[in-house]
Amino acid sequence: MAASFWTQANALLRKNLIFQKRNRKTSIRIIVYPIILCVLLVLIQSLINNELHKSKYKCGCTCVDKNGNGSCETVCGIQYSTLDQVDSCSVPSPFEWPVLLQVPRPEYRAVQNSFDTFAGLPEKSCRDSESCPATVLFTGGNESLANSLAANLFTNVASSNLSDYLSAFSELIPGTDTVSGDTQFIDPAFIYGRPIYTNQPQCISNSNREFSFKIDTVTMQEDLECVRGLPLWRRSSSDVNDELFKGYRKGNAEMMINEVMSAYDFLETDDRNFHVNVWYNSTYQNTSVWDTTPGLLRVLRSINIVSNAYLQFLKGSGVKVLFEFTKEMPKIATQLSFDFSSLLGPLFFKWVIELLLPVILTYLVYEKQHKLKIMMKMHGLEDGAYWAISYAYFLLLSTAYVVFFMVFGSLIGLKFFKLNDYSIQFVFYFTYVNLQIVLAFLATTFFSDVKTAEAIAYIYIFGTGFVGGYLLPSFIQDTSFPKNWLIVMELLPAFSLYRGLYELSQYSFSGDYMGTHGMQWTDLSDHLNGMKDVLIIIVAEWLILLPFAYYIDRTASRGNISMKGLFSVLQRFLTKKSISTQRSESGKVFIEMEKPDVIREREVVEHSLLESRTSHAVICDNLKKVYSGKDGNKDKFAVKGVSIALQSGECFGLLGPNGAGKTSLINMMIGLVKPTSGNTFVQGLNIQTEKDKVYSSMGVCPQNDMLWEMLTGREHLMFYGRLKNLKGEALMQAVAESLRSVNLFHGGIADKFVGKYSGGMKRRLSVAISLIGDPKVVYMDEPSTGLDPASRNNLWNVVKQAKQNRAIILTTHSMEEAEVLCDRLGIIVDGSLQCIGNPKELKARFGGYYVLTMATSTNEEHEVEVLVNKLSPNAKKIYHVSGTQKFELPKQEVRIADVFLAVKDAKSKFSVQAWALSDTTMEDVFIKVAKEAGSI
Ligand SMILES: *[C@@H]1O[C@H](CO)[C@@H](O)[C@H](O)[C@H]1NC(C)=O
Ligand SMILES: *[C@@H]1O[C@H](CO)[C@@H](O)[C@H](O)[C@H]1NC(C)=O
Ligand SMILES: *[C@@H]1O[C@H](CO)[C@@H](O)[C@H](O)[C@H]1NC(C)=O
Ligand SMILES: *[C@@H]1O[C@H](CO)[C@@H](O)[C@H](O)[C@H]1NC(C)=O
Repeated sequence: MAASFWTQANALLRKNLIFQKRNRKTSIRIIVYPIILCVLLVLIQSLINNELHKSKYKCGCTCVDKNGNGSCETVCGIQYSTLDQVDSCSVPSPFEWPVLLQVPRPEYRAVQNSFDTFAGLPEKSCRDSESCPATVLFTGGNESLANSLAANLFTNVASSNLSDYLSAFSELIPGTDTVSGDTQFIDPAFIYGRPIYTNQPQCISNSNREFSFKIDTVTMQEDLECVRGLPLWRRSSSDVNDELFKGYRKGNAEMMINEVMSAYDFLETDDRNFHVNVWYNSTYQNTSVWDTTPGLLRVLRSINIVSNAYLQFLKGSGVKVLFEFTKEMPKIATQLSFDFSSLLGPLFFKWVIELLLPVILTYLVYEKQHKLKIMMKMHGLEDGAYWAISYAYFLLLSTAYVVFFMVFGSLIGLKFFKLNDYSIQFVFYFTYVNLQIVLAFLATTFFSDVKTAEAIAYIYIFGTGFVGGYLLPSFIQDTSFPKNWLIVMELLPAFSLYRGLYELSQYSFSGDYMGTHGMQWTDLSDHLNGMKDVLIIIVAEWLILLPFAYYIDRTASRGNISMKGLFSVLQRFLTKKSISTQRSESGKVFIEMEKPDVIREREVVEHSLLESRTSHAVICDNLKKVYSGKDGNKDKFAVKGVSIALQSGECFGLLGPNGAGKTSLINMMIGLVKPTSGNTFVQGLNIQTEKDKVYSSMGVCPQNDMLWEMLTGREHLMFYGRLKNLKGEALMQAVAESLRSVNLFHGGIADKFVGKYSGGMKRRLSVAISLIGDPKVVYMDEPSTGLDPASRNNLWNVVKQAKQNRAIILTTHSMEEAEVLCDRLGIIVDGSLQCIGNPKELKARFGGYYVLTMATSTNEEHEVEVLVNKLSPNAKKIYHVSGTQKFELPKQEVRIADVFLAVKDAKSKFSVQAWALSDTTMEDVFIKVAKEAGSI
């Protein structure tokens, strides 16, 4: 009875677990890599935290003698801080800052130049004395009205009292050429030591002054410098644009930089409507790479002065809106936080997760390389069970791995794991490892060597890591990069993994920075979040590739085993037609004279095929195999129509010189190779269509031992025993018996790794495997090669014992073995059966003579010949070298007694050094048959 799915699954699972346990190096590597990576990230992170927590980024403090008694007290606050420190200070009452205009630096202010001619700009020489005016361009629908508005932009203020500098600045139109910061807790303009400009229609030479201001308790000094505000009329807003554009800092020394303070378009403004467009230069905002918040715009004062200009136009010079200061809302102290591990994470974590790919691939390719999968199949393992268990096994391994990774990462404190929603992370990793397993199955078809597979897998992992890590983030951040192209890139699983990790890292980074959480399920609807696409891609690829991988695997294992992957599958599709057309021709080619015994065997086969219930264990019905010639070569006829019928309890020996077609024939009989025509029936079951049923009662001992180096002999037998549906006590007994029969039971050999076995021990184990579980048909391909005489005898006994209730088909090069073991022999030469029968018959038929060997001195050679001719007139000399001669004496002509007498007689006449008379051996028969067939 065939083993059920669950029995097979159980066998396979147990074998896998043992294999995993033994494969300690890989297991340790798998566990250690993520640990090392996580620890490394944590170390780097703590270095960075250490740096961030240094005083450079901590709110500035100083020692203040508050009570005036010499003992000082530490006070912290923005007034003691640098710009870097301000972010972390607590600011219960924010400071009030005057509102400033953004003024171009003196050396860049617009002047006349030789390339562009813009009316009204000052001479270039003003740059040397740093006295260039700050230009304001304006235009509008009504020029006279625009002119009068522009004239009101800057007004002379009589010397103001600077001790109340905020209210003074509200009239003085202050400006600065420093860049703005990202908060207004502290204004960089008052810290960088650049002067504060007051914009006036005219500057008197001695109008530069100083003023002091206080931040909390600290008093500071600042220069106040006059700059002339110069409004210039332009005809249209496109003229203004053009001039602004051409004045832009070009980074080219020869071109003039002509910066303008601001520009206004008064549009259709009249005395009832005020419409204005304001140009400002936002390039002035200073945002660093890591900074996600934009710098503040210095645009408020521009709006204030133009509003005042309109008010004055309407109501006279006395009316003004005074804009004294801006200040931010209060804030608590914060700690600058920068989660570096989140940013480095994607690349590292990608490698960690992909580390399983080579592991799985190695495992699968190992079984393919050592033909273990076919071996398992031939002992009854079904494809479905193999897939289900291997898949489930790898999935379990992968899931445990990623869960371990997540838990460890969280425990060690990596924000990447802690901040993002665990269920999202799990779903993402889980779907990905599923896809990864399918990829491994798929990739297995392309490799036939573990080393290559492993190397290519690592190249893929690291290659896509670097390429993805380099390209993807910039493509993702570049909003002009087409989203569809990103999706195309993400079709490569390594990139989709990277993208997913990247999104998680972005969310955990900003979550950490803002003090909130990372990615939540609701974030999936965020249109910038690529996670949803990635999940869809992964699941879709899995759904498509899984059946595809299964199909390819089945096709590859069903057909020719030496086939290499997908290409051959496709090739087979393409060449199928041409083979079938050749089939009809090939019938004619093989018409050859067949020997009577071969013809009789063919008749037996044909006869038993007609019977409904056949007593034959194996029937080969006219098997033919043609390998179609490549590159214009002729087709090769490997097997030319062989018919054999075997009874149960019979051992059949298949002999033949190398290259005679034995292996092709056996491969067709065990269903590894599809015959070009003809068929094989095992126990009445067609091997082509009912392979799985046939395999459950079949045993194979292949020519090359197909064994797992990491398992012991006993484990091998247990595994195959389970596949053959042996359970519990019966299994133990069968295994012990089997080990004993092949002499592997004693001395603990059975529990040693097969990798440590000698060649002979492996052979014996292979034979034991082929016999376990009482198969009805057993194929043995040269079972005794490499065995010492004692082991060989032992093995022969095993086979003799075994053949009693099953059919055994055996190939061998040892004629002795064939004679001892086989009930019938068939000799195949050049693809067709030359003779078939039991050893004695064959010997009688092809032998029929004795061989007389005699060694004398060279002088007496002639006398020996005379003697032999007297004995038997038809004797033939077959061998002759310096005194030693061999003769064939036909049996019907001589009696052994006569030979003895003749030799005795001869000895008395001359000296005979040695002599021998032997019957024909199987070897003689074999050589003769091979020679005859060759001469045809
Ligand atoms: C332009 O504005 C001035 C002052 O308000 C007004 O007197 C004049 O009519 C306006 N011109 C046009 C063409 O609207
Ligand atoms: C400026 O104003 C302060 C008070 O606001 C006053 O004490 C001081 O005398 C004034 N200085 C001048 C020069 O007016
Ligand atoms: C705007 O500001 C940037 C940065 O300082 C400067 O390079 C550029 O020339 C300015 N553009 C104009 C039109 O003034
Ligand atoms: C921007 O600010 C940094 C300090 O935060 C400063 O070093 C840098 O020079 C500024 N960039 C410009 C263009 O002023």
